[in-house]
Amino acid sequence: MTAESPLIHSMRTAVAAAPEDVPLRLHLAELLLEAGHADAAVAEIAVTLQHAPGDARARELMARAMGAGPSPAVIPEPAATPGPPAPVPDAPPASEVRPAAGFDWRAAENQVGDVVPPRYTEAPLTVDGSGDPGDADAWDVESPGTVRLADVGGMQEVKERLEAAFLAPLRNPELRRLYGKSLRGGLLLYGPPGCGKTFIARAVAGELGASFLSVSVNDVLDMWIGNSERNMHEVFQTARRQAPCVVFLDELDALGGKRSRTQSNGMRTTVNQLLTELDGVDAGANEGVFVLAATNVPWDVDIALRRPGRLDRTLLVLPPDGPAREAILRYHLRERPIENVDLGKLVKATDGLSGADLAHVCEAAAEHALLDSARTGTVRMIGMKDLLAAARKIAPSTEPWFAAARNVAMYANDGGMYDDLVTYLKKKRKL
Ligand SMILES: Nc1ncnc2c1ncn2[C@@H]1O[C@H](COP(=O)(O)OP(=O)(O)O)[C@@H](O)[C@H]1O
Ligand SMILES: [Mg+2]
Repeated sequence: MTAESPLIHSMRTAVAAAPEDVPLRLHLAELLLEAGHADAAVAEIAVTLQHAPGDARARELMARAMGAGPSPAVIPEPAATPGPPAPVPDAPPASEVRPAAGFDWRAAENQVGDVVPPRYTEAPLTVDGSGDPGDADAWDVESPGTVRLADVGGMQEVKERLEAAFLAPLRNPELRRLYGKSLRGGLLLYGPPGCGKTFIARAVAGELGASFLSVSVNDVLDMWIGNSERNMHEVFQTARRQAPCVVFLDELDALGGKRSRTQSNGMRTTVNQLLTELDGVDAGANEGVFVLAATNVPWDVDIALRRPGRLDRTLLVLPPDGPAREAILRYHLRERPIENVDLGKLVKATDGLSGADLAHVCEAAAEHALLDSARTGTVRMIGMKDLLAAARKIAPSTEPWFAAARNVAMYANDGGMYDDLVTYLKKKRKL
């Protein structure tokens, strides 16, 4: 695999500075795709889809990245949005790529073109409280929250597995003693974007009465050599100080060995640092520290991280089932002016949509009713018509994920690692 170009490097810096900027991130994804880094592109597009599940360009790029052959894949287009022009097979050199609408590429390039050396090089302040007081809080810890598994709608199977594989042994001191060492290790949640991984992790923390320290592995990674390891160590040190604490490592795949983020072997040493932190359980250092991680692409997660005693249990988090969709819809409609909404019917009409898609449906319906009200001059409530129309317009954002997952289930289910996935795909006749 080729190293990333300086342009891509600069783009990464820009994206890190403006993580919510959808066109910017998609531009990076496009560059990655053109440079042959399909899986890195997928990671970026997946992030985008979490922010903007309905984004036509993101979906089109995802379809391309997942197909990742030399020719562009056939693109399922969401019905309503007139997508951007189809990608040209032999694209121009990266530097001439047409910018996304509304994004001033030149200006951005000028801005990040010369971010070379760090401005300060002092050693970091200590995190044990003896340094600058602000430094101890580099990673935000949420105090024990009130979200419980009961707040997670539906998903009975997920709850039962969580209970059996993770919670019960931790809750019960007898079991804890009995199992001793085999209780080390954490849980890796995986599945399509927007289907509740983060939400479930937070609920687990609530069940354990633990604080919650959520970090995106992308935020841990730092382009300056050595900083990523130090950041990773600080995350765990923070959690140890706040124990009991759930450490939630989101986007774990960003550490994937398959990805060349920098030319250095920085990633390897960061993986090793994480292994050291996880293995710290042996010394009792991690007493009261529970590790959960999440990824949309478990097949990109370094296999060393999944060995026994590490992130050795996996849990597949699928698109919300009926009761889950009902809970999610209720939540997003709770403060909206609705009338005569037949939730049962709406739940049926939204099969296959992710939690994020459902939020989008509610928003789109509200917007439609609002525009209507403005046009006619008569305020009207949000009704079934608005909701069903919105549901029809949206294509499940999980589809590209399932396309990739299908390949993994068929050709890379080493040691039955993805048996759950295989079972689900068969049940849905997708395999
Ligand atoms: N079973 C569920 N019950 C209630 N809300 C849910 C459920 N599943 C997902 N959600 C909601 O859907 C949205 C997306 O979930 P999130 O946890 O961010 O997904 P992921 O981390 O898998 O990308 C969140 O607003 C979350 O609260
Ligand atoms: Mg998440």
